Amino acid sequence: MDIIADQFTLPHADLATAWNAIKLPAQVRERLQAQSLLALQLRQRFPFETMPVHGLIVLAGKPGTGKTTLARGLASQVATALKGTKCTLIQIDPHALNSSSLGRSQKEVSKLFHQTIPEHAAEGPCFVLLDEVETLAPDRQSMSFEANPADVHRATDAALAGIDLLTRKHRNVLLIATTNFPKAVDRALMSRADWIEEIGSPSAEHRTEIIVDALDQLATVWPRVRDLKPHIGSFVAASEGFDGRKLRKAIIAAAAVSIETARDLNKLKPEHVLTTLNALAEANPAEEAA
Ligand SMILES: Nc1ncnc2c1ncn2[C@@H]1O[C@H](COP(=O)(O)OP(=O)(O)OP(=O)(O)O)[C@@H](O)[C@H]1O
Ligand SMILES: [Mg+2]
Repeated sequence: MDIIADQFTLPHADLATAWNAIKLPAQVRERLQAQSLLALQLRQRFPFETMPVHGLIVLAGKPGTGKTTLARGLASQVATALKGTKCTLIQIDPHALNSSSLGRSQKEVSKLFHQTIPEHAAEGPCFVLLDEVETLAPDRQSMSFEANPADVHRATDAALAGIDLLTRKHRNVLLIATTNFPKAVDRALMSRADWIEEIGSPSAEHRTEIIVDALDQLATVWPRVRDLKPHIGSFVAASEGFDGRKLRKAIIAAAAVSIETARDLNKLKPEHVLTTLNALAEANPAEEAA
C-alpha cells in the first residue's frame, strides 16, 4: 500500500472547492489560515529555542464534521496566499503504515519523515496531511504491550522523532493532522501542536448554508428543486445535531424516497426531505441530544 494517499500541486481548483464546501464560523477559517501563515513565516526567521513553532495544526472532532476536507482546503488556501510560490500537498494514509509487517512500520514512518517529506519540501513549501493521526501516533501511555506489539510503540517514537527533525531542518513544512479521537493520539504529539481546533457539528446558521449549497447544486440540473427553498427553516430545525456529512447525505437520501423522484428531482417535495430528516434524527437520538 502506498503511504501517500493523494498528492497535489497547489493551489488546486478541487481543493478550493473543498475549502468552500465546509461551512463553519468565519473566525475558525481565519484562525486556521493565519496560524498556518504565521508558522511558515516565524520558522523561517527565528530559532526554535526562542520561538517554538513546530508547524503542526490539529483538527479534532467527531466523524463527518469535515476535518479531512477542511485540511485539504486549508493547504490550498494558504498556498494561494503565498502568491507565486510552488507548493505541494501530500496526504498520508496512516493505515498503509499499520498494514506493514512487524518491524516495518517504524522504518516506514522514519522514511516518511527523513526522506519522502524532505524531498517534497526541497522544491517549496510542503503541506502534509496526517489524516487520522491516532493511527500514525497512538498514545503510548494507554497502550498495553500484550495488545499492541512494541513495534507500534516504536512507530510512535519514530513519528515524534520525525516531527522534531522537520521542525529543525525543514522549515517550510506545515503538518496538518486530523483526529476524531484526540485522547487516543500520543500526548507528546498533541503537545507539539501549535494550535488544536475543535471542529463541531454545524450550527443552525451553517446547516442553513449547507442545505442552500446542496439545493443550489441540484437546481442546476433540476430547476424545481428551488421550490424547496422556502422550507429550509423547517429542514434546519429537523436536522439539529446532524454533522455536515450526515446532513448532506440526508438531502440526497430524500431524493431516494421513490424511483420517480430519484429519476427526476424536480418531483422532490418538502415533505420528502422532512420525513427523511426526522427518520434519521430518530435513528440516532443520542447524536441529536449531543
Ligand atoms: N461543516 C460542514 N459543512 C459542509 N459540509 C460538511 C461539513 N462537515 C462535513 N461536511 C460534508 O461531509 C463530507 C465528509 O467530510 P470529511 O470526510 O472531511 O469529514 P471528517 O471530519 O474528516 O470525518 P472522519 O472523522 O469520519 O474522517 C464533506 O465532504 C462534506 O461534504
Ligand atoms: Mg477524515
